[in-house]
Amino acid sequence: MKRIAAVASAVTIGLTLAACGGGGATTPEAGSTGGAAGAGDASEVQVVTWWAQGSEKAGLEALEKVFATQHPDTKFVNAALAGGAGSQAKQKLQADLQAGNPPDTFQAHAGAELTDYIDAGQIEDVSALYDEFNLKQAFPENLVERLTVDGKIYSIPSNIHRANVVWANPAVLKEAGINPDTPPASIEAWIADMEKIKAKGKTPITVGMDWTQTQLLETILISDLGAEKYNGLWDGKTDWAGADVTKALTNFQKIMSFTNPDRDGLDWEPAMQKVVDGSAAYNVMGDWAVAGFDSQQKKEGTDYIWFPVPGNEKVFDFLADSFTLPVGAKHPGGSKNWLQTISSSEGQLAFNKVKGSIPARTDVDVAQLSEYQQKAMESFKNDTIVSSLAHGAAAPVAVSTQINQAVVKFTQGASDLAGFQKELVTATASLKG
Ligand code: GAL
Repeated sequence: MKRIAAVASAVTIGLTLAACGGGGATTPEAGSTGGAAGAGDASEVQVVTWWAQGSEKAGLEALEKVFATQHPDTKFVNAALAGGAGSQAKQKLQADLQAGNPPDTFQAHAGAELTDYIDAGQIEDVSALYDEFNLKQAFPENLVERLTVDGKIYSIPSNIHRANVVWANPAVLKEAGINPDTPPASIEAWIADMEKIKAKGKTPITVGMDWTQTQLLETILISDLGAEKYNGLWDGKTDWAGADVTKALTNFQKIMSFTNPDRDGLDWEPAMQKVVDGSAAYNVMGDWAVAGFDSQQKKEGTDYIWFPVPGNEKVFDFLADSFTLPVGAKHPGGSKNWLQTISSSEGQLAFNKVKGSIPARTDVDVAQLSEYQQKAMESFKNDTIVSSLAHGAAAPVAVSTQINQAVVKFTQGASDLAGFQKELVTATASLKG
């Protein structure tokens, strides 16, 4: 990500703040930096997310509870719009921002996705809040680096998710003669297992609508290119027209041939449900899936198992949900209070307990988190971190949208492999140099 500057420059340059817009009564909180990010009306906060239903909603509710305790005088206004990965919320948000009608804060992904909002001058630099809330000490340095754009920081993360995980139904695997304790060692071995599952009349792997297919594709790219070359896809160093990309697309095509035919109409939860119900074996999804299993009282080991996508073993495919302070927010004091709660250790513990993700802070009492989360924290600490495409860390929204369109065109049979690869080259042309 070419625009990400070093932490050092964040410290030196990042403190110049754009004054926050916004109307309403000025009721700054004690300790507010007056005139800086988050000064102003704190009577309410309108929060846009896509955590509107199912297991996702439970996470937001956990945050809301902590917020009510920490900021009883700020009314929480829930403006969540359903649709996994923000498939609906992002469009509505863009229209609202363009119409000069921003919410007080909105969910976004840390990383390249924010560049659209930054370039359009739609979100404030919140570096001063990092200082006020001591966040540079609380977050790992590599995370602060990923959040820093030209020396400024435009969002505050509530959590970190891992996107390159296979979730599997162990009973379906056993039925096909596959040992659930030994994950396949390569994409090719995984495909061989899918053949066995198909022979038993079960769906080998499920996907849903466009972004879930893109997410599967990104993990296959990681396997076939390796972490370094995968990273190069996002800064022009790796050629999208190359033979290793062709190999990954060929594997993607093969794996897609094992998927459920009703995929394009499904969000991630119904696609995953086929694995839960035992009509399918595998699904590749981020670890918000844990929240989906928890909400149905499904237990790791017996009801479901997980493993990194074959060939992704030492790689953590990263994304972080991150909240913003829009320019012109009507209740910037409310936004600031929300940003305080989502970045506090209480907020991050309560939220991550239900969300399946891991806290962005390093000082949270993680003993209370699940066995899965303990493993994810280990991986985040020790493995190579790469940025998720489907979840905004690797590329701006315009690029990932174009990739989603090319992916679905291909999986619906409207383009062939060579045409698909050409479209990916075009979609990513703006990332060079
Ligand atoms: C991601 C988001 C996760 C989860 C997921 C499914 O983009 O970062 O928190 O909500 O979408 O909707």
